[in-house]
Amino acid sequence: MPNLTELASWKALQAHFDQIKDVRMRDLFAQDQGRFNKFSTQMDDILLDFSKNRINDETFGLLCDLAREVDVEVWRDRMFSGEQINISEFRPVLHTALRNRSNTPVYVDGEDVMPKINRVLAQIRYFTERVRGGHLRGYSGHLITDIINIGIGGSDLGPQVVCDSMKPFAQRGMNVHFVSNIDPTHLTEVLKFVVPESTLFIVSSKTFTTQETMMNAQSARKWFVETTGNEKAVSRHFVAVTTNKSAASEFGILDENMFEFWDWVGGRYSLWSAIGLPIALYLGMDRFEELLEGAHAMDMHFRSAPIEKNMPVILAMLGIWYNNFFDAQSHAVMAYNQYLRRLPAYLQQLDMESNGKTINRQGKRVDYLTGPVIWGETGSNAQHAFFQLLHQGTKPVPADFLVPARSKNPLGEQHSVLLANFFAQTRALMNGKTEDEARAELEAAGLPEDVVDDVLPHKVFEGNKPTNSIMFESLEPRTLGALLALYEHKVFVQGVVWDINSFDQWGVEYGKQLASDIQQELASRENTTRYDDSTNNLINYCMLLKFSD
Ligand code: F6P
Repeated sequence: MPNLTELASWKALQAHFDQIKDVRMRDLFAQDQGRFNKFSTQMDDILLDFSKNRINDETFGLLCDLAREVDVEVWRDRMFSGEQINISEFRPVLHTALRNRSNTPVYVDGEDVMPKINRVLAQIRYFTERVRGGHLRGYSGHLITDIINIGIGGSDLGPQVVCDSMKPFAQRGMNVHFVSNIDPTHLTEVLKFVVPESTLFIVSSKTFTTQETMMNAQSARKWFVETTGNEKAVSRHFVAVTTNKSAASEFGILDENMFEFWDWVGGRYSLWSAIGLPIALYLGMDRFEELLEGAHAMDMHFRSAPIEKNMPVILAMLGIWYNNFFDAQSHAVMAYNQYLRRLPAYLQQLDMESNGKTINRQGKRVDYLTGPVIWGETGSNAQHAFFQLLHQGTKPVPADFLVPARSKNPLGEQHSVLLANFFAQTRALMNGKTEDEARAELEAAGLPEDVVDDVLPHKVFEGNKPTNSIMFESLEPRTLGALLALYEHKVFVQGVVWDINSFDQWGVEYGKQLASDIQQELASRENTTRYDDSTNNLINYCMLLKFSD
């Protein structure tokens, strides 16, 4: 593929940008009453309104041309068909096969992988139904009431955002906890609230070598043995989710308590695999399968919808428009739903670990911006945290706003107030407030003329701040599955446009290597001179402070 910036559609977008960059969205709405119909699309009950973007027909056409010119649809089909598109690890990328509810064959090295995917799903169903039904109990006969998932990154964030979001569907009496941080506080604070006899630990690690997970798992094992005095019982209270069965066996996990997945599933794309075991334990296997069905529905939409109506492609190309033409350095996600409070953290790994890359598929340094910084907070809280910057700051921050029409917890008029804020904020960001409008308000408030003149500049809102609105009926397992798959495919499409491999993560290795070396230095409890002056002095000050082990 020629360099991205040499493509005809890229050059056309560059030229078009100079024409449209000062056009105001409020004028575009005034000129075109049918703007919403033109710039919205739907998949099942999920509506994407992308009309509050700095685009016109020509912009949208050129963005779709770019998607076609980089062969997004060809790359999409290559991914779904199991081609080795993860070129630096020589692997296919097949998280979509995990939720392939059609069961049509998917081949990896000539083998249809659907039978083994279904075998693991059956194993998860059998195990979780026995635990939830009280047939599989702790070593002393206690019901299992607490699940502790020990994992980090994709072995934590995916299951966590789903369990957090699906609380209304959880079985009473079944609690789920997530431990990920190597900071001993994380495990310690969870263990305070469980008893070993009724606790099941899931050691989730694709590699079964990640330091945080392995140390937390060993500490949890030690706690279990010390508090029960029963080492034999470990095998009944620890299960493993991994591709590395031999390492799990060495830890003491029984074969029947190992839930496998495969190296063609990336960590940040793995919640649909056995990494979703805590989800099935917490919500039940039927709900987990509804989640898979929702993701599969989005997969089908992504594979079949024309580019102009293709939700993941549209979100991706709008992101490219702001990232690469408006020089926006970040993208915010505001879910107006408290259950989705962990969504930004999940999307950070999904997006930033996938597209935080500088080297393209040809091994060359790119000469354009790639992955944005992803951040966000639930609405309406975000309004009281950083909306000042969104409305009147100097930095462009394109944003997604998500909201269910129906609440799981109706309470007076609170959900309708939440909705009103959702509508108001995206409108205010788009529309702004002119000087005349602000002056009229200040005068109507009876302020003296000189005060009006002093205050007026601070009351003007530039507006023209782009947002995508994503609305759905209510937060169901299917809906959540579709939304998470939507963002997976958005990230994929952007990686195709930027000509980068979205599926490796070599950037996380260097810090780990250094940490391992410095850990040994710390263990000596001796002052060091081995590193740079800053690191040496920080380590030596830590020595002075008699740091904790
Ligand atoms: O952050 C680096 C990473 O490799 C992620 O990609 C992965 O999700 C996480 O660490 C945990 O890896 P594992 O599941 O192998 O413990």
